[in-house]
Amino acid sequence: MSDDPFAQLKAVQREAWAVFAPLEAVTTMPAAELVRHARVFPQQSVLDVGCGTGVVGLTAARLGARVHGLDLAPALIEHAQKNAALAGVEIDFREGDVEALPFDDASFDVVLSQFGHMFAPRPEVAIAEMLRVLKPGGTIAFSTWPPEHFVGQMFALVGKYVPPPPGAAPPPLWGDPNVVRQRLGETVTDIVFDRGVMCFPTLSPQHYRKVLEETLGPVVKLVQTLQGDASKLATFRAELDGYIGRHLENNMLRQHYLMTRAIKR
Ligand SMILES: C[S@@+](CC[C@H](N)C(=O)[O-])C[C@H]1O[C@@H](n2cnc3c(N)ncnc32)[C@H](O)[C@@H]1O
Repeated sequence: MSDDPFAQLKAVQREAWAVFAPLEAVTTMPAAELVRHARVFPQQSVLDVGCGTGVVGLTAARLGARVHGLDLAPALIEHAQKNAALAGVEIDFREGDVEALPFDDASFDVVLSQFGHMFAPRPEVAIAEMLRVLKPGGTIAFSTWPPEHFVGQMFALVGKYVPPPPGAAPPPLWGDPNVVRQRLGETVTDIVFDRGVMCFPTLSPQHYRKVLEETLGPVVKLVQTLQGDASKLATFRAELDGYIGRHLENNMLRQHYLMTRAIKR
């Protein structure tokens, strides 16, 4: 038996995230922004944590970096491997958990995560692992969803209907620069923040909600959980449509995110 207190949550997440692949169409552009923000250059050894279908890892590999990618969901790792083969780049993509990285101390020049490590239930464990595998002088950089913008608010809404298990941190706290500074602590120096916007074209709140219900792990899971409670499901859908409607302009949903970069001492 596992001694991980969140093993059951992670088993659920592993299944729920499996259908994320279509959203790579929108995470592809922020991937280039993150790789630019991290200042990746050829021959560096790079780890992409919570890599999903590999959009960040592939972007770094096409610049000439030597890339490893890791994700909880085996279905996404398979997709990432196909993406690498299609692009003609060599990347070691493997299944794994950011809270227990299968790499030696000081293995990488750069550790990246785009909307990935923020979903680990224990931020202090995830960040300690990411910094452990980073070389002194190396760069850690990640993109995260702030609590005050659309995606952060959507996760708060999801949490209202199905609260996370006790002790699991809300993912959007990773989008608050003060929290990020505190979590990175004294192990790093030269923290730099930047902001980006991920755009999703959509015809109506209902169209975008359908995309979320089919592809975004926490929403997929919530809708499954509420299947037996039609009235609660209808209320959730109405609330989500309201959120989406307030952020939808000219058939475009603009989703603001935070980018962080820091150097390990
Ligand atoms: C929003 S997706 C982002 C995927 C990819 N980085 C991108 O930008 O397209 C979140 C990813 O984090 C992964 N993930 C969640 N918890 C994880 C954990 N504890 N360890 C590793 N990956 C995790 C999920 O499986 C999913 O692929």
